[in-house]
Amino acid sequence: MASTRTAVGKARVLVASNRGPVSYQVREDGSLDARRGGGGLVSGLSAIGSDADSVWVCAALGDGDRAAVRRADGGLLPVEETGGQRVRMLDIDASVHAEAYNGIANSVLWFVHHLLYQTPLEPVFDADFRRQWASYQTYNQAFAEALAEEAAEGAAVLIQDYHLALAPRMLRRLRPDLRIGHFSHTPWAPPDYFRLLPDDIAAELLGGVLGADRAGFLTRRWADAFTACCHEVLGPGIPSGTEIGVHGLGADGDFLRERAHRADVAERMAALREEIGEGRRTIVRVDRTELSKNIVRGLLAYEQLLTDRPEWREKVVHVAFAYPSRQDLAVYRDYTAEVRRVADRINERYGTPGWTPVVLHVKDDFARSLAAYRMADVALVNPIRDGMNLVAKEIPVVSDEGCALVLSREAGAHEELGEDAFTVNPYDITGTARALHEALTLPAEERAARSKRLAAAATALPPARWFLDQLQALTAQPS
Ligand code: G6P
Repeated sequence: MASTRTAVGKARVLVASNRGPVSYQVREDGSLDARRGGGGLVSGLSAIGSDADSVWVCAALGDGDRAAVRRADGGLLPVEETGGQRVRMLDIDASVHAEAYNGIANSVLWFVHHLLYQTPLEPVFDADFRRQWASYQTYNQAFAEALAEEAAEGAAVLIQDYHLALAPRMLRRLRPDLRIGHFSHTPWAPPDYFRLLPDDIAAELLGGVLGADRAGFLTRRWADAFTACCHEVLGPGIPSGTEIGVHGLGADGDFLRERAHRADVAERMAALREEIGEGRRTIVRVDRTELSKNIVRGLLAYEQLLTDRPEWREKVVHVAFAYPSRQDLAVYRDYTAEVRRVADRINERYGTPGWTPVVLHVKDDFARSLAAYRMADVALVNPIRDGMNLVAKEIPVVSDEGCALVLSREAGAHEELGEDAFTVNPYDITGTARALHEALTLPAEERAARSKRLAAAATALPPARWFLDQLQALTAQPS
């Protein structure tokens, strides 16, 4: 646990997130293997740079991470293992972390902001929840104290996501001199749904974020929902000291195009081509196996396409990559099993000796994801709700022949890509099946033209710009 020391540190720019840019595995011989993470969040936040003036504060997430922290100097990881960045990893008590991360962040806040409560996970706000809430407070306080220690006078601190909704106010109390930003990568729940939370907890969460000078969101819609929650729950709404900002996040086009043309991706394409079969069209999706991603309804829509439009049988393959996520939670494990069960059922029902209708892969492999992106005729992105959804932006950038995008109107990315996509209501399976058919039948020229426009819109806000815009807005704002 962090100490309560609040002496003024050195860093001028700080970011804080639960998951950091590096994670450690313990090798068989007991030594530690450091791996850099990928994804938009890490690449965006990596714009923090590697000079001694900046530090990234994150939590140790497993045994490897904990061993790395214990051997590190004051929690600061060796820069040769972090790609040059100064990273302070917090060794938060494992049960406190589990209750804050799995109990509150993933089972409550994630479900509220994505409107996901329904059987089998209903909201239960009892004594167990209150105990987990205390862990969430402790976890947030540990971040606030570490940030207070590391930050130079007047430094800028960018706190990330629903894991750390209380940290801005806690940090403000410790260090009123700092410029504090909070950024939500998720949607924000509308007031009627947010108010499922007990009143005191709802007020504490909003008050926590309002401890920041600037609360950032990926789209205007999520920012407006936050503002509406403040009005309904707190009465007076947004205090004059807090500014609400909208900062969209785009795909890193240069990186993706270069990475997608390396040899390992070409190898994966050859292997996938074998699985798909010559001359067939592809409907591609790549997601974490996540309830909000709506993978099962996507499969059911594909099944309905095969049922209603027999002309597509043998001619199309649904390439679905669903990478396990948050498997500590039973509801995620059950969902993973359900995805498999439905995919198997479709293959049993419609498959023939030479054609597997659904090619499902569950082992995370970035090179294979890029291979599927390149081969996509249609990209299926149908989340129930999503802060942005970078896959919707990445596939058009990488696809070789240009792809048609079937996109949920509930993804943040829809605000930027909607005009050239086939828009779906994520709950409407029949409507999604129809959109898949329309996307598959789009003439090649029109598809390429749309895909080009999608790629241009998708790369308009590269991750580094997202970071620098936030930082600039935060530091430009008067105290
Ligand atoms: C998604 C969300 C992020 C969130 C992350 C956490 O990518 O868009 O807002 O921070 O999940 O995932 P984790 O695997 O760390 O629970």
